[in-house]
Amino acid sequence: MDSFVYQNPTKLIFGKGQLDALPNEVEKYGNKVLIVYGGGSIKRNGIYDNVVNKLKEMNAEIFELSGVDPNPRISSVREGVEICKKEGIQFILAVGGGSTIDCVKAIAVGAKTDIDMWDIVIKKEVAKDSLPFGTVLTLAATGSEMNSGSVITNWETNEKHGWGSPYSYPKFSILDPEHTYTVPLDQTVYGIVDIMSHVIEHYFHQTTNTPIQDRFCEGILNTVIETAPKLIEDLTNYEYRETIMLAGTLALNNMLNMGYRGDWATHNLEHAVSAVHDIPHGGGLAILFPNWMKHVLDEHNAPRFKQFSERVFGVSSVGKSDMDVALEGIDRLREFWTSIGAPSKLSDYEINDTSIELMAEKTVTLRSEYGMFKKLNKQDSIEIFKASL
Ligand code: NZQ
Ligand code: ZN
Repeated sequence: MDSFVYQNPTKLIFGKGQLDALPNEVEKYGNKVLIVYGGGSIKRNGIYDNVVNKLKEMNAEIFELSGVDPNPRISSVREGVEICKKEGIQFILAVGGGSTIDCVKAIAVGAKTDIDMWDIVIKKEVAKDSLPFGTVLTLAATGSEMNSGSVITNWETNEKHGWGSPYSYPKFSILDPEHTYTVPLDQTVYGIVDIMSHVIEHYFHQTTNTPIQDRFCEGILNTVIETAPKLIEDLTNYEYRETIMLAGTLALNNMLNMGYRGDWATHNLEHAVSAVHDIPHGGGLAILFPNWMKHVLDEHNAPRFKQFSERVFGVSSVGKSDMDVALEGIDRLREFWTSIGAPSKLSDYEINDTSIELMAEKTVTLRSEYGMFKKLNKQDSIEIFKASL
């Protein structure tokens, strides 16, 4: 393992009925509250009314920003920053999935600076402060509810980048599995793929002696693989939703990667695809991950893939080479995602070879090489995209 410091300041409030905790948590920070949400799912499923009623218990003065898109835009961030500054907002509450939460992280930092948030997203400037914010999570996927990362898209430049800062952790996140009952089948599947992808990004690293971390990762993957097929047949089953929701948080609150850094090349590739084509993040990952695996697999790193195949998918290695076992595991991952309804080809989103060059360029906008398990460059991006058509 590498030496490390672990600190996560987000208070996790998990389980049925936990929205009751909302007024007590918010009133610590003030009563001028900006609620931020997406395209209206929370109005249709009643979560909006419940949140507003809870905030009324603490006599909150409520402001709103709605219409945050999936793959949230810098334009929504700027709108939110303006409201915070104009109205003297004291606390921001994200009610939604990763897109809404990521947007709020950027608004919270933007509200405390005169620097344009896009300059912080592209790392020209750094965050130095933020307004306090919390989340009510409605979709299990990104882990944004308990990490400091945020991913923002700029449609003027067709760029989508992740950024983060010590000021971008939610003060608290309320996770009631019942809030995810209305997540439609496709978004449920994208969430499952995203959760698994976060664990797999961690899993492929070059640091030695990480047996506890390996078993944590494998345990989460085994559990998600066991639960996902049951959940997609029974979308309002509390226990399945509960399991997937906790998996989502643990997959990316940086507990799994204590002492090492994961790969994250596939996320870079996916963000490039979404920046050009605005596809769902989990859908892009399902297409790209097995192709990244095949691209980087070699004799030297095959034992890591073999361990993945054996422990995650129960592939037998008797009488087989490490390479064969590795390839079987990659095929099993693809089959599993296909079995729950995830896409497998870029053409499923009507993406063809005409945009490969542009997407590949987007993978190296901020740095010429990416990926920690194996360093990749623009030519690698082109090859992985071609294999994904
Ligand atoms: O906008 P509304 O109407 O709320 O509908 C949303 C949206 O259309 C809907 N939805 C959410 N909760 C629902 C619901 N529909 C019915 N019932 C509910 N309870 O689902 C759709 C997708 O929502 P979104 O927030 O976009 O999904 P997700 O949570 O998957 O977030 C994706 C974004 O997060 C970024 C992705 O790149 C993408 O931009 N990521 C953020 C990360 C982070 N901050 O740590 C890490 C991830 O790897 C990822 O890159
Ligand atoms: Zn992701």
